[in-house]
Amino acid sequence: HRHLLGIEQLSQSDITAILDLAEKYVELNRQSLKHADELSGLTQINMFFENSTRTQASFELAGKRLGADVMNMAMQASSIKKGETLIDTAMTLNAMHPDLLVVRHPQSGAVDLLAQKVNCAVLNAGDGRHEHPTQALLDALTIRRAKGRLHRLTVAICGDVAHSRVARSNLILLGKMENRIRLIGPPTLVPGHFAEFGAEVYEDMSDGLKDADVVMMLRLQKERMDGGFIPSEREYYHRYGLDAAKLALAKPDAIVMHPGPMNRGVEIDGTLADDINRSVIQEQVEMGVAVRMAAMELLARHHREVAA
Ligand code: CP
Repeated sequence: HRHLLGIEQLSQSDITAILDLAEKYVELNRQSLKHADELSGLTQINMFFENSTRTQASFELAGKRLGADVMNMAMQASSIKKGETLIDTAMTLNAMHPDLLVVRHPQSGAVDLLAQKVNCAVLNAGDGRHEHPTQALLDALTIRRAKGRLHRLTVAICGDVAHSRVARSNLILLGKMENRIRLIGPPTLVPGHFAEFGAEVYEDMSDGLKDADVVMMLRLQKERMDGGFIPSEREYYHRYGLDAAKLALAKPDAIVMHPGPMNRGVEIDGTLADDINRSVIQEQVEMGVAVRMAAMELLARHHREVAA
Protein backbone atom coordinates (compact mmCIF):
# COMPACT_ATOMS: atom_id res chain seq x y z
CA HIS A 1 0.00 0.00 0.00
CA ARG A 2 1.04 3.58 -0.75
CA HIS A 3 -0.83 5.07 2.23
CA LEU A 4 -2.59 4.03 5.43
CA LEU A 5 -5.93 5.79 5.08
CA GLY A 6 -8.31 3.29 6.64
CA ILE A 7 -8.82 -0.28 7.78
CA GLU A 8 -11.26 -0.61 4.87
CA GLN A 9 -8.34 -0.99 2.41
CA LEU A 10 -6.49 -3.64 4.46
CA SER A 11 -6.80 -7.41 4.08
CA GLN A 12 -6.65 -9.94 6.90
CA SER A 13 -3.02 -10.67 6.01
CA ASP A 14 -2.11 -6.94 5.89
CA ILE A 15 -3.49 -6.56 9.42
CA THR A 16 -1.60 -9.62 10.68
CA ALA A 17 1.64 -8.40 9.06
CA ILE A 18 1.42 -5.01 10.83
CA LEU A 19 0.65 -6.63 14.20
CA ASP A 20 3.45 -9.18 13.84
CA LEU A 21 5.99 -6.48 13.05
CA ALA A 22 4.66 -4.34 15.94
CA GLU A 23 5.44 -7.19 18.37
CA LYS A 24 9.13 -6.66 17.60
CA TYR A 25 8.79 -2.97 18.50
CA VAL A 26 6.95 -3.70 21.77
CA GLU A 27 10.19 -5.42 22.84
CA LEU A 28 12.41 -2.59 21.58
CA ASN A 29 10.30 0.03 23.36
CA ARG A 30 10.75 -1.79 26.68
CA GLN A 31 14.54 -1.60 26.45
CA SER A 32 16.53 1.29 27.84
CA LEU A 33 18.08 1.94 24.39
CA LYS A 34 15.13 2.39 22.06
CA HIS A 35 16.80 3.06 18.78
CA ALA A 36 16.45 1.48 15.34
CA ASP A 37 17.28 2.91 11.92
CA GLU A 38 14.49 1.69 9.62
CA LEU A 39 13.44 5.30 8.88
CA SER A 40 16.92 6.79 8.97
CA GLY A 41 17.29 9.66 6.47
CA LEU A 42 13.51 9.95 6.00
CA THR A 43 11.47 13.03 6.90
CA GLN A 44 8.18 12.69 8.77
CA ILE A 45 5.80 15.63 9.14
CA ASN A 46 2.92 15.48 11.63
CA MET A 47 -0.05 17.76 10.83
CA PHE A 48 -2.74 17.74 13.52
CA PHE A 49 -5.70 19.99 12.75
CA GLU A 50 -7.52 18.61 15.79
CA ASN A 51 -6.36 18.14 19.39
CA SER A 52 -4.49 15.00 20.33
CA THR A 53 -2.37 13.64 23.16
CA ARG A 54 -1.88 9.92 22.50
CA THR A 55 -1.81 9.82 18.70
CA GLN A 56 0.47 12.81 18.22
CA ALA A 57 2.93 11.82 20.98
CA SER A 58 3.12 8.21 19.82
CA PHE A 59 3.61 9.07 16.12
CA GLU A 60 6.40 11.45 17.12
CA LEU A 61 8.12 8.89 19.36
CA ALA A 62 7.57 6.14 16.77
CA GLY A 63 9.33 8.18 14.08
CA LYS A 64 12.19 9.24 16.35
CA ARG A 65 12.80 5.70 17.63
CA LEU A 66 13.12 4.55 14.00
CA GLY A 67 15.60 7.31 13.20
CA ALA A 68 13.38 9.62 11.09
CA ASP A 69 13.69 13.41 11.12
CA VAL A 70 10.35 14.31 12.68
CA MET A 71 8.70 17.70 12.43
CA ASN A 72 5.48 18.61 14.23
CA MET A 73 3.63 21.37 12.40
CA ALA A 74 1.97 23.69 14.91
CA MET A 75 -1.26 24.02 12.92
CA GLN A 76 -2.63 26.69 15.30
CA ALA A 77 0.34 28.90 14.34
CA SER A 78 0.32 28.01 10.61
CA SER A 79 -0.88 30.00 7.61
CA ILE A 80 -4.16 28.02 7.78
CA LYS A 81 -5.09 30.86 10.16
CA LYS A 82 -4.55 33.32 7.29
CA GLY A 83 -6.96 31.42 5.08
CA GLU A 84 -4.63 29.01 3.29
CA THR A 85 -6.51 25.87 2.32
CA LEU A 86 -5.74 22.35 3.47
CA ILE A 87 -4.60 21.33 -0.01
CA ASP A 88 -2.37 24.40 -0.49
CA THR A 89 -0.83 23.71 2.90
CA ALA A 90 -0.20 20.08 1.98
CA MET A 91 1.25 21.03 -1.43
CA THR A 92 3.58 23.54 0.28
CA LEU A 93 4.92 20.89 2.65
CA ASN A 94 5.06 18.36 -0.21
CA ALA A 95 7.50 20.66 -2.03
CA MET A 96 9.93 20.14 0.87
CA HIS A 97 10.07 16.40 0.03
CA PRO A 98 8.75 14.70 3.15
CA ASP A 99 8.56 10.90 3.06
CA LEU A 100 5.76 10.43 5.59
CA LEU A 101 2.84 12.75 6.35
CA VAL A 102 0.74 12.00 9.42
CA VAL A 103 -2.57 13.87 9.32
CA ARG A 104 -5.50 14.36 11.70
CA HIS A 105 -8.42 16.45 10.50
CA PRO A 106 -11.95 17.16 11.80
CA GLN A 107 -13.55 16.48 8.39
CA SER A 108 -14.27 12.94 7.19
CA GLY A 109 -12.48 12.33 3.89
CA ALA A 110 -10.01 15.23 4.24
CA VAL A 111 -7.01 12.91 4.66
CA ASP A 112 -7.95 10.82 1.59
CA LEU A 113 -8.23 14.01 -0.46
CA LEU A 114 -4.83 15.22 0.72
CA ALA A 115 -3.26 11.83 -0.08
CA GLN A 116 -4.25 12.26 -3.74
CA LYS A 117 -2.25 15.51 -3.98
CA VAL A 118 1.12 14.56 -2.50
CA ASN A 119 3.83 12.11 -3.51
CA CYS A 120 4.74 10.76 -0.10
CA ALA A 121 3.09 8.19 2.15
CA VAL A 122 0.11 9.54 4.10
CA LEU A 123 -1.06 8.07 7.40
CA ASN A 124 -4.53 8.90 8.64
CA ALA A 125 -4.35 9.85 12.33
CA GLY A 126 -8.14 10.29 12.49
CA ASP A 127 -10.52 12.06 10.07
CA GLY A 128 -13.88 13.26 11.40
CA ARG A 129 -16.21 10.33 12.00
CA HIS A 130 -14.63 8.26 9.25
CA GLU A 131 -11.54 6.24 10.30
CA HIS A 132 -8.73 6.07 12.85
CA PRO A 133 -6.83 3.07 11.47
CA THR A 134 -3.82 3.07 13.80
CA GLN A 135 -6.18 3.15 16.81
CA ALA A 136 -7.98 0.02 15.57
CA LEU A 137 -4.60 -1.66 14.95
CA LEU A 138 -3.32 -0.84 18.44
CA ASP A 139 -6.60 -2.08 19.89
CA ALA A 140 -6.24 -5.29 17.87
CA LEU A 141 -2.69 -5.83 19.13
CA THR A 142 -3.83 -5.24 22.72
CA ILE A 143 -6.68 -7.75 22.32
CA ARG A 144 -4.45 -10.34 20.62
CA ARG A 145 -1.87 -10.13 23.42
CA ALA A 146 -4.49 -10.27 26.21
CA LYS A 147 -6.67 -13.02 24.70
CA GLY A 148 -4.07 -14.96 22.72
CA ARG A 149 -6.06 -14.63 19.49
CA LEU A 150 -7.89 -12.08 17.33
CA HIS A 151 -10.76 -14.18 15.98
CA ARG A 152 -13.97 -15.72 17.31
CA LEU A 153 -14.13 -13.27 20.22
CA THR A 154 -17.25 -11.45 21.37
CA VAL A 155 -16.45 -7.75 21.47
CA ALA A 156 -18.91 -5.22 22.92
CA ILE A 157 -18.38 -1.65 21.70
CA CYS A 158 -20.36 0.65 23.99
CA GLY A 159 -21.58 4.22 23.96
CA ASP A 160 -21.16 6.99 21.41
CA VAL A 161 -20.75 4.85 18.29
CA ALA A 162 -22.40 7.44 16.02
CA HIS A 163 -19.65 10.04 16.32
CA SER A 164 -16.75 7.62 16.65
CA ARG A 165 -14.12 6.97 14.00
CA VAL A 166 -12.54 4.61 16.57
CA ALA A 167 -15.72 2.50 16.63
CA ARG A 168 -15.96 2.51 12.84
CA SER A 169 -12.35 1.39 12.29
CA ASN A 170 -12.66 -1.24 15.02
CA LEU A 171 -15.90 -2.53 13.58
CA ILE A 172 -14.28 -3.00 10.19
CA LEU A 173 -11.09 -4.58 11.57
CA LEU A 174 -12.78 -6.93 14.03
CA GLY A 175 -15.28 -7.94 11.35
CA LYS A 176 -12.48 -8.74 8.88
CA MET A 177 -10.82 -10.90 11.54
CA GLU A 178 -14.10 -12.81 12.04
CA ASN A 179 -15.17 -11.73 15.50
CA ARG A 180 -18.69 -11.29 16.86
CA ILE A 181 -19.36 -7.59 17.41
CA ARG A 182 -22.05 -6.01 19.54
CA LEU A 183 -22.83 -2.32 19.62
CA ILE A 184 -24.50 -1.08 22.81
CA GLY A 185 -25.94 2.37 23.40
CA PRO A 186 -29.03 4.56 23.13
CA PRO A 187 -30.56 4.64 19.60
CA THR A 188 -29.47 8.29 19.26
CA LEU A 189 -25.84 7.16 19.55
CA VAL A 190 -26.02 3.76 17.79
CA PRO A 191 -27.77 4.26 14.47
CA GLY A 192 -29.49 1.09 13.19
CA HIS A 193 -27.57 1.13 9.88
CA PHE A 194 -24.42 0.09 11.76
CA ALA A 195 -25.96 -3.40 11.71
CA GLU A 196 -24.94 -3.40 8.01
CA PHE A 197 -21.36 -3.98 9.18
CA GLY A 198 -22.50 -7.32 10.59
CA ALA A 199 -22.80 -6.11 14.19
CA GLU A 200 -25.64 -6.87 16.60
CA VAL A 201 -27.20 -3.73 18.09
CA TYR A 202 -28.35 -3.55 21.74
CA GLU A 203 -30.01 -0.79 23.71
CA ASP A 204 -29.39 -2.41 27.09
CA MET A 205 -25.99 -3.07 28.67
CA SER A 206 -27.40 -6.12 30.51
CA ASP A 207 -28.24 -7.84 27.18
CA GLY A 208 -25.24 -6.69 25.18
CA LEU A 209 -22.48 -7.39 27.71
CA LYS A 210 -23.50 -11.01 28.31
CA ASP A 211 -20.56 -13.35 27.58
CA ALA A 212 -18.40 -10.57 26.11
CA ASP A 213 -14.63 -11.26 25.98
CA VAL A 214 -13.80 -7.61 25.38
CA VAL A 215 -15.67 -4.51 26.57
CA MET A 216 -14.63 -1.43 24.63
CA MET A 217 -15.94 1.84 26.00
CA LEU A 218 -16.13 4.99 23.87
CA ARG A 219 -15.81 8.62 24.83
CA LEU A 220 -18.99 10.67 24.72
CA GLN A 221 -17.95 13.12 21.96
CA LYS A 222 -19.60 16.26 23.19
CA GLU A 223 -17.72 18.39 20.64
CA ARG A 224 -19.52 16.55 17.81
CA MET A 225 -22.98 16.87 19.38
CA ASP A 226 -25.34 19.78 19.09
CA GLY A 227 -27.53 18.71 22.03
CA GLY A 228 -30.31 16.16 22.34
CA PHE A 229 -28.23 12.99 22.14
CA ILE A 230 -28.42 12.07 25.83
CA PRO A 231 -30.88 13.03 28.58
CA SER A 232 -28.11 14.05 31.05
CA GLU A 233 -24.60 12.84 31.89
CA ARG A 234 -25.90 11.43 35.20
CA GLU A 235 -28.63 9.43 33.50
CA TYR A 236 -26.18 8.32 30.80
CA TYR A 237 -23.70 7.07 33.42
CA HIS A 238 -26.49 5.22 35.22
CA ARG A 239 -27.58 3.37 32.06
CA TYR A 240 -24.37 3.10 30.01
CA GLY A 241 -21.42 3.96 32.25
CA LEU A 242 -19.22 0.90 32.81
CA ASP A 243 -18.69 0.01 36.47
CA ALA A 244 -17.86 -3.24 38.28
CA ALA A 245 -21.55 -4.25 38.53
CA LYS A 246 -22.15 -3.95 34.77
CA LEU A 247 -18.80 -5.58 33.95
CA ALA A 248 -19.88 -8.61 36.04
CA LEU A 249 -22.36 -9.37 33.20
CA ALA A 250 -19.48 -10.04 30.79
CA LYS A 251 -17.17 -13.07 30.95
CA PRO A 252 -15.19 -13.26 34.23
CA ASP A 253 -11.94 -12.64 32.33
CA ALA A 254 -13.30 -9.91 30.04
CA ILE A 255 -10.91 -7.02 29.47
CA VAL A 256 -11.89 -3.35 29.63
CA MET A 257 -10.68 -0.97 26.91
CA HIS A 258 -11.00 2.76 26.24
CA PRO A 259 -9.18 4.64 23.45
CA GLY A 260 -8.90 7.81 25.58
CA PRO A 261 -9.30 10.56 26.39
CA MET A 262 -11.67 9.32 29.13
CA ASN A 263 -14.55 11.11 30.76
CA ARG A 264 -14.33 9.49 34.20
CA GLY A 265 -17.76 9.11 35.77
CA VAL A 266 -19.52 9.64 32.41
CA GLU A 267 -18.81 6.55 30.28
CA ILE A 268 -16.56 4.69 32.73
CA ASP A 269 -16.02 4.45 36.48
CA GLY A 270 -12.59 5.86 37.37
CA THR A 271 -11.72 3.02 39.77
CA LEU A 272 -12.49 0.39 37.15
CA ALA A 273 -10.45 2.27 34.53
CA ASP A 274 -7.46 2.11 36.92
CA ASP A 275 -7.97 -1.56 37.87
CA ILE A 276 -4.95 -3.26 36.31
CA ASN A 277 -6.59 -6.67 36.72
CA ARG A 278 -9.36 -5.74 34.26
CA SER A 279 -8.37 -2.58 32.40
CA VAL A 280 -5.86 -2.65 29.53
CA ILE A 281 -6.09 1.09 28.87
CA GLN A 282 -2.40 1.72 29.58
CA GLU A 283 -1.40 -1.26 27.40
CA GLN A 284 -3.41 0.31 24.57
CA VAL A 285 -1.25 3.42 24.83
CA GLU A 286 1.92 1.30 24.91
CA MET A 287 0.84 -0.68 21.83
CA GLY A 288 0.13 2.59 20.04
CA VAL A 289 3.83 3.44 19.70
CA ALA A 290 4.73 -0.07 18.46
CA VAL A 291 1.89 -0.25 15.92
CA ARG A 292 2.76 3.18 14.51
CA MET A 293 6.43 2.17 14.19
CA ALA A 294 5.33 -0.95 12.27
CA ALA A 295 2.90 0.93 10.01
CA MET A 296 5.50 3.57 9.09
CA GLU A 297 8.21 0.97 8.49
CA LEU A 298 5.99 -1.00 6.11
CA LEU A 299 5.00 2.11 4.15
CA ALA A 300 8.62 3.26 3.90
CA ARG A 301 9.61 -0.22 2.69
CA HIS A 302 6.89 -0.10 0.02
CA HIS A 303 8.05 3.31 -1.21
CA ARG A 304 11.66 2.09 -1.38
CA GLU A 305 10.58 -0.94 -3.45
CA VAL A 306 8.55 1.22 -5.84
CA ALA A 307 11.46 3.65 -6.25
CA ALA A 308 14.00 0.84 -6.90
N1 CP B 1 -7.24 7.76 21.16
C1 CP B 1 -6.87 8.94 20.61
O1 CP B 1 -6.92 9.13 19.39
O2 CP B 1 -6.44 9.87 21.51
P1 CP B 1 -5.91 11.36 21.16
O3 CP B 1 -7.10 12.12 20.62
O4 CP B 1 -5.39 11.90 22.46
O5 CP B 1 -4.84 11.22 20.12
